[in-house]
Amino acid sequence: MRDSSPKRVAIVGPGALGCLLAATLCRIHEKIWVLDHDSQRAALLQHSGLTLECADHLEHFSIQATADAQEIGPVDLVLLCVKSPALGHTLSSLPPLLRKNTLLLAWQNGIGHLPVLLGAELPGALALAVTSLGAHLVGVGQVRFGGAGATSLGFLGAPPQWAELALLEAAEVFQAVGLEVGVEADILVQVWNKLLVNVGINALTAIHNCENGGLLKNGEALALLQAAVLEAASVAQAKGIAIAPEPVARTIAVCQATASNISSMLQDVRANRQTEIEAINGAVLEEARRLGIPAPVNAELFNAVKCLEKGYLVG
Ligand code: PAF
Repeated sequence: MRDSSPKRVAIVGPGALGCLLAATLCRIHEKIWVLDHDSQRAALLQHSGLTLECADHLEHFSIQATADAQEIGPVDLVLLCVKSPALGHTLSSLPPLLRKNTLLLAWQNGIGHLPVLLGAELPGALALAVTSLGAHLVGVGQVRFGGAGATSLGFLGAPPQWAELALLEAAEVFQAVGLEVGVEADILVQVWNKLLVNVGINALTAIHNCENGGLLKNGEALALLQAAVLEAASVAQAKGIAIAPEPVARTIAVCQATASNISSMLQDVRANRQTEIEAINGAVLEEARRLGIPAPVNAELFNAVKCLEKGYLVG
């Protein structure tokens, strides 16, 4: 086993997943840094720390939080946990955290943001994390654990050797705090497997304002879930991505396993935030257009969520 002693770690974005990962890593790290673009919220996090709600049990953790990346300085591992719409401006705030052997691990849903990530050409190495961990933000720094789920880590291209080792070490750190984490040779397959699940669940739960399990009780929504996933699966196949078999059955299984979860997209709509619709159904639509594959259901879901966003986003 490699050296899995705590490294310098910064978590960017104190949303549901960012807070869950930060709280979990506090179990073995004395000092976890959280970077937030919002200086007032960072001050609150610095003062009050994080609360993790797991079943009926509450745990509290102290963290270091700031809106100034210079205050953190270079770290070994950055967990980039902001949602895809915030990536553009977040990436430009990262350089003070990065040096030539920093591993940047990006945890976004979808695929639409990948060109932004890859085009940023930041120092260090970029890897992706694909997770089915459930998390629900109930207040600033207050996160409810939404269920255990596997996480895959991997590089999109061929990484330098130091980065391969750094990723294995990161996986060992996550395993040491009880997370189910593995390193994958072909992370793009995992990205698409997860994308298909998000294509089927996220927009529909936002449109119907229901928990994930609610989609299984609504015949019309279930039919759209199936059609949207099959359209996206045709796109993946046309792109030569070796997605796992039975994507509709897998999506339905996730609905069952996370029946009482509020999907991340519904959480965004309820909090009047920009959703990840562009990176999920929007990106599938774009790929479908490029490949000449019809994707009317993804278009319908995309437009419906854009309409919801228009109701509360200004500009
Ligand atoms: O985005 C989400 O909410 C999650 O990826 C999933 C799997 C749909 C569960 O809620």
